[in-house]
Amino acid sequence: MNTKLSLTRSLKNHLVVLSDDSNLDWADTYLTTGEISILADGLKNEVKSFVFPKVGQYIFIQILKEGEVPHKAKEDTRLAAAELLDTTEHYKIKSLTVINHAEKNHALDYIEGLVLGNYQFLKYFNDKDGKRNALQEVKLHNSCATKTEFHSLESVLEGTCKARDLVNEPHSYLNSVNYSKEVKAAGQEYGFKVKVLEKKEIEKLGMGGLLSVNQGSFVPPTFNIMEWKPKNAKNKQPVILVGKGVMFDTGGVSLKPTKNSMDYMKCDMGGAAAVTGTMIAIAKAELPVYVIALVGATDNRPGNDAYVPGDVVKTLSGITVEVLNTDAEGRMTLADSLHYAKQYNPELVLDFATLTGAAAYCIGPEGICYMGNADSKIKYKMEQSGMKTYERLVEFPMWKEYGETIKSDIADIKNLGGPYAGHITAGKFLEHFTDYPWLHFDIAGPAYMHKKTGYKTKEGTGVGVRLTYDFLSNYLG
Ligand code: BES
Ligand code: ZN
Ligand code: ZN
Repeated sequence: MNTKLSLTRSLKNHLVVLSDDSNLDWADTYLTTGEISILADGLKNEVKSFVFPKVGQYIFIQILKEGEVPHKAKEDTRLAAAELLDTTEHYKIKSLTVINHAEKNHALDYIEGLVLGNYQFLKYFNDKDGKRNALQEVKLHNSCATKTEFHSLESVLEGTCKARDLVNEPHSYLNSVNYSKEVKAAGQEYGFKVKVLEKKEIEKLGMGGLLSVNQGSFVPPTFNIMEWKPKNAKNKQPVILVGKGVMFDTGGVSLKPTKNSMDYMKCDMGGAAAVTGTMIAIAKAELPVYVIALVGATDNRPGNDAYVPGDVVKTLSGITVEVLNTDAEGRMTLADSLHYAKQYNPELVLDFATLTGAAAYCIGPEGICYMGNADSKIKYKMEQSGMKTYERLVEFPMWKEYGETIKSDIADIKNLGGPYAGHITAGKFLEHFTDYPWLHFDIAGPAYMHKKTGYKTKEGTGVGVRLTYDFLSNYLG
């Protein structure tokens, strides 16, 4: 995470004061009578942000409105924070302190918008200093949050930024083997357990789904198991997070047909990034939940021995799959991870995958298509977390008619459905490999941005981390 965070008692730094438009009693602490009248006049004209230059200090005032839509104010606050970044860059401000004087305290949301909007991935620039944003440090005045609340925010932001890093890493570095190195290093740093199964073990287990996709690659697959099991865990059976870890998706021999669509396929491990980032966040925050994350990692290439349409693959579960399009590879790898999860007798399994173009067409970057059989209470809590974090969820039906489209004449099922609702037929495929409460999140739309939008920087967004962290924070609570 490239923005340093801390709590402070001091008000000597450049300041962002959050206020609403109803009460300016706080203003004479910072502003002269003349400045207060400028502020009051501005409010009459619905001005929302102000800058007052003082001696050696800028005072930025941000007016927040609650509005009627639940949780919209949180998002508006994050967006307002991201907008301030143009100004901090303009004035070359290195460090800022945020203080709240509004009736409803949105200081944490504001910090979230600042840190996420200020995110940068500079690893591959020679002139890193020249490229670096001015803002390096954000402080929160200690009247605005408890240490625990602040640490919780810091944890989820760290997880989100790491997830963005993982998506932004080009495939020239982040193949399956280096992904496993990253996971091991994260486990060491944040205190969760990591076990990586190598190709030999994957073969011995019979993970035919993962192995078939890997056939066209020079780099062996890895199967990554992360575990966070604190002594004070509220749940005895784990919650399992499964991530699609296709490190690069060429489509295989069914090479990607759509113009330019391969250009950003390093993002096809967005699910793996989401679950890795979530493990980092929950371990750093020491959340009292028992969570396991599983990622089968490989790239999908049309190399020498690549799997081809017409092949029949025996997955870890024993279920056989007729391959009709090698670009529908995510479901092949997830089939094995979802089956592997059964041995833990999980309470709930959540999978995250950049699985289908259909999901991306359906909802764009604005939300996540989700589906599954978990009970309505879990779905409700998930949707609430979706609104709070603005990683919004839309549920799709898993009607059995959709399942008819993946029947095969030669094997138990095929990896290709009919001409429509591709995200649902992909979900129906995955359902074959589950026997527990489960939700599937197709993040193909929001995992990767083609341009900066608000606090979502270009490329990896880290989607899934804030959603899942919020859900797990309230889990059984
Ligand atoms: N990785 C893609 C899905 C994707 C699309 C991710 C856009 C991110 C952005 C996936 O493996 C894929 O190629 N799916 C195919 C499946 C089809 C061949 C059944 C698709 O959706 O077109
Ligand atoms: Zn594909
Ligand atoms: Zn893919």
